[in-house]
Formats: sequence, structure tokens, C-alpha cells
Amino acid sequence: MTDQATTAADPGTAEIPGKPTSASRTTLSHIMTQADTNLLGTVHGGVIMKLVDDAAGAVAGRHSGGPAVTASMDEMAFLEPVRVGDLVHVKAQVNWTGRTSMEVGVRVLAERWNESTPATQVGSAYLVFAAVDADGKPRRVPPVHPETERDERRYQEAQIRRTHRLARRRAIMELREKRAAEGFED
Ligand SMILES: CC(C)(COP(=O)(O)OP(=O)(O)OC[C@H]1O[C@@H](n2cnc3c(N)ncnc32)[C@H](O)[C@@H]1OP(=O)(O)O)[C@@H](O)C(=O)NCCC(=O)NCCS
Repeated sequence: MTDQATTAADPGTAEIPGKPTSASRTTLSHIMTQADTNLLGTVHGGVIMKLVDDAAGAVAGRHSGGPAVTASMDEMAFLEPVRVGDLVHVKAQVNWTGRTSMEVGVRVLAERWNESTPATQVGSAYLVFAAVDADGKPRRVPPVHPETERDERRYQEAQIRRTHRLARRRAIMELREKRAAEGFED
């Protein structure tokens, strides 16, 4: 059997056609109400994080063509307080794809629901989603094809974050193994 035949017969290594960034880019919009506030009277950060996860999950599902689960959420930044009566727009796109995971970048914008003033950016986040099969096992994702210079910059920056995530995880695992070998229980 040739290498080519092996590849064609093996769904684990066969090429999956790529998809452009715009094919899955999504905006989720929501008006903030009293039910969304914290004890200070502004919008609870967890409410924004839920919207971020929802929007990013929709993008990951669209890009990968099936279920995808949140593997990590990092660099969630809250830049300005969000208020009751704000119309919040959560804009998400696939920044980068690996074998079975995707980084989704999210920008959160807010504007007064009844005023024609420009929206301001109030937050941002980067999430990693893993595409999973019916058994919850990771499955291959189509490579994302950046379309604009901005998409390309985001792709390159996502690769830097990926490298740092893996290095941090590896360093922590190595430290834990070393401590266990030295007899520490935790
Ligand atoms: C995410 C999950 C599917 C990963 O499964 P796993 O058996 O560890 O599989 P792998 O190690 O092969 O990881 C799969 C991919 O996810 C990436 N990944 C896994 N954990 C990650 C993390 N913490 N941060 C970033 N990426 C991660 C891997 O790098 C890999 O990407 P790649 O194939 O593009 O290189 C599994 O941990 C899981 O199901 N977690 C629960 C997810 C969930 O329920 N989310 C909702 C929270 S309520």
C-alpha cells in the first residue's frame, strides 16, 4: 500500500477542506437588564462571560461542522463597566485551528440600547474549543483560511498564545512529577 493510499483510507490523517474565517464569524447581541447586575449595580462579569462562551461556541460549532466543547478560556479582559440598558454585541471568529482544537477570538462591544452613539469595546477574550464526536472524543477540524490582513495577524498571534499555553502546561506537569518523585503528596 502506498503512503497516498494509506492517507486516503485513514480518516485520522486525510486532509479536510479548509473554511474561510467569514464562514463562521458570528455576532450575538443582548440587552442588559436588572437581572444581569452585580451588587454594585453594573453588569456581572459572569453574565458577559456566558455570552462570550455562547458566541464562541456557536462559531466553533459552525466552523467544525458539529459539537465543540470549551477546553479553556483565557485573557478575558473587562475594559469598561457594562450598564443596565446597554445593548451588548459579542463578536466572535475562529482565529486559528490545530488538529482538533480551534482558538476563537471574541470582542465585546456596548452601546446604549436607545441612542445612536457608536459602540465602544468593553471586553475581549480568547477561548480554545475542541471539536468532539458523539462519544466526546476529539475529532479533526477543517483548517481555517484567514482572509484579511487582520485575520492573518490574529492567526499569528493565536499561534504565539498556543505555544505559551502548551509550554505552561508542560512546565507545570514537569514540576508536579518532580515533586511527586521527591515524595510530596500535593
Ligand atoms: C477538551 C477535551 C475534549 C480534551 O480532551 P483530551 O482527551 O485532553 O484530548 P487532547 O489532549 O487530544 O486535546 C484535544 C485538543 O484540545 C486541546 N486542548 C486540550 N486541553 C486544552 C487546554 N486546557 N487548553 C488549550 N487547548 C487544550 C489540545 O491541544 C488538542 O488540540 P489539537 O488537536 O489541535 O492539538 C476534554 O478535556 C473535555 O471534554 N473537557 C471538558 C470540556 C467541557 O465539558 N467544556 C464545558 C465546560 S462546562
